[in-house]
Amino acid sequence: MPLVSIGEELKRAQAGGYALPLFDTADVQSTEGMIQALEDRKAPAMIALYSGALERPNGRAMAAYIRTRAEEASVPISLMLDHGSSFENVMHAIAAGFTDVMYDGSSLPFEENVAQTKAVVRAAHAVGLCVEAELGHVGSGSDYQSFGALRKGFTDPDTVERFVSETGVDFLAIAIGTAHGLYEGDPEIDLDLLRVIRARLDIPLVLHGGSGCSDAQFRATIENGISKINVATDLFRAAGVSVAEAGKGGEASYWAFSRAATEAFRERVSYYVDLFGASGKAH
Ligand code: 13P
Repeated sequence: MPLVSIGEELKRAQAGGYALPLFDTADVQSTEGMIQALEDRKAPAMIALYSGALERPNGRAMAAYIRTRAEEASVPISLMLDHGSSFENVMHAIAAGFTDVMYDGSSLPFEENVAQTKAVVRAAHAVGLCVEAELGHVGSGSDYQSFGALRKGFTDPDTVERFVSETGVDFLAIAIGTAHGLYEGDPEIDLDLLRVIRARLDIPLVLHGGSGCSDAQFRATIENGISKINVATDLFRAAGVSVAEAGKGGEASYWAFSRAATEAFRERVSYYVDLFGASGKAH
């Protein structure tokens, strides 16, 4: 059960009241840990490269590697572009064999976000990929007290229907109180806003900035209509701690570092897929 475009799986998640995770990967160690956990838990998921990672000299090779490993996997895995930064960046992803893309026009004025997203949707749909867009802006956890905690960037629920119908986007990332990276303080999530948006749309809704949310917050967002959750920072933090631990005492061994990193990714990914209800959902 190989590489897939994730649309059907996300529709099933939405109907079934669970969420599928997207994990950003960086290298072989992180990817192998993710795939081991997904196969062990029988969970569908998206493994993603950030827009910037695709543009690095090894970006296309990384994409080819993840693609091959997903093709060999026993569970459905999408190779997804995360936070596509421009039409060109998305076209690079399509040329490199990605199966789904996010285009992030969330810093643009509304009309410009609509126009850019629409162009991306037209191109991506022509070759069978699903597209995620962002409306409102999920900021950075390091600015949380001066941004997200003040409700800055939150998605305006009165704009969501027009955005989705004009762009034709498949999944929508919304800003309801989470942020990317480590939080300054604790995240506060507006579940009322989530419920209002959920009632107005029928496509899967996406939560970015998963790292730092509590288990109760994850459960509440899934119960109230989130079907896809992105997690990155926590996995890399856990792997960093494990690698540092593996270097304590004795002789520094590259193989011990490499094993410790893969194992940390495996453990954290298993934890999240269980928490999101995605375990056992691979068909
Ligand atoms: P975190 O790094 O905060 O988990 O956010 C990940 C994310 O939203 C990627 O799109």
